[in-house]
Amino acid sequence: MADLDNFKVAKNYHLEEPFANQKGFFLKGINSLDWGMKKHMSNIFNKDSGNTVMFAFDHGYFQGSTSGLERLDLLLPKLAPYVDCFMGTRGAIRATLPPEITSAVALRVTSGSSMLQDDLSHEVVAVNIEDAIRMNADCMAVQIFIGSQGQLSSLDNVNRVINDGMKYSIPTMGVCAVGKELERTDKFFKLATRIIAEMGVQMVKTYDCENFEEVVAACPVPIVVAGGKKIPEKEALTLAYSVLQKGAHGVDMGRNIFQSQHPVEMIQAVNKVVHEGFTDKEAYEFYEDLIHR
Ligand code: 5RP
Repeated sequence: MADLDNFKVAKNYHLEEPFANQKGFFLKGINSLDWGMKKHMSNIFNKDSGNTVMFAFDHGYFQGSTSGLERLDLLLPKLAPYVDCFMGTRGAIRATLPPEITSAVALRVTSGSSMLQDDLSHEVVAVNIEDAIRMNADCMAVQIFIGSQGQLSSLDNVNRVINDGMKYSIPTMGVCAVGKELERTDKFFKLATRIIAEMGVQMVKTYDCENFEEVVAACPVPIVVAGGKKIPEKEALTLAYSVLQKGAHGVDMGRNIFQSQHPVEMIQAVNKVVHEGFTDKEAYEFYEDLIHR
């Protein structure tokens, strides 16, 4: 029987205070989603800055052993303190990312091509929702090939992943593919990112381009920007700064971190831009200071 001695009747309902969580969620386009989705999004994006430093190391899914990613078991723990979200394949994550690391996980769930082919646009959904749940994935990443041979099947892939994600409140990240044959213009990215968002993904990964702020404005969910091929650290920091200024909610950078001579210092400098409002110049000075210590 319940102990009713000194039982205090609840009365502090603070009726004069509006419901504190009624205000908009801190990320665009996510407010109407349920608690589980918001929780995963909050694991990926930092609530104070609204942004994320995602580290992409999924290149092996079509390239095999990639320069800079030969020993994930050694690299990932060193970067972890500066990574909000690791983006990788289930094979690499399970085998090399210690589960004690608290960073979020973006699980690549599509695959099916290799760099030995000319046309990389034909992928399948390779990881089912049960395994994404088992891995406690914070989002599932699906590559979408607008304008390529594989457009239809990649849109089918993303819709199937979104449908499963909605059942279990796991967000989907639509990864906008660019191929050799695809133009990297704002016209293309406005088309592709908007189609991907309209499918119902909770975030889009894409590339910088001319008029990038318009791409961002027309995309109703957060955009994170891929680093692309390796460029000098100073330029990579300028890229990060520029897209953040234009409304991106962070970067999903791979080669410009893991192919840097100083990956740990580079990711710290990227953090300064993404979370602390450093300009590219300030972040590069910070990077130079770190590597010359
Ligand atoms: C492309 C991806 C990769 O993870 C991403 O493009 C790699 O990052 P970076 O371009 O910065 O090396 O999603 O399929």
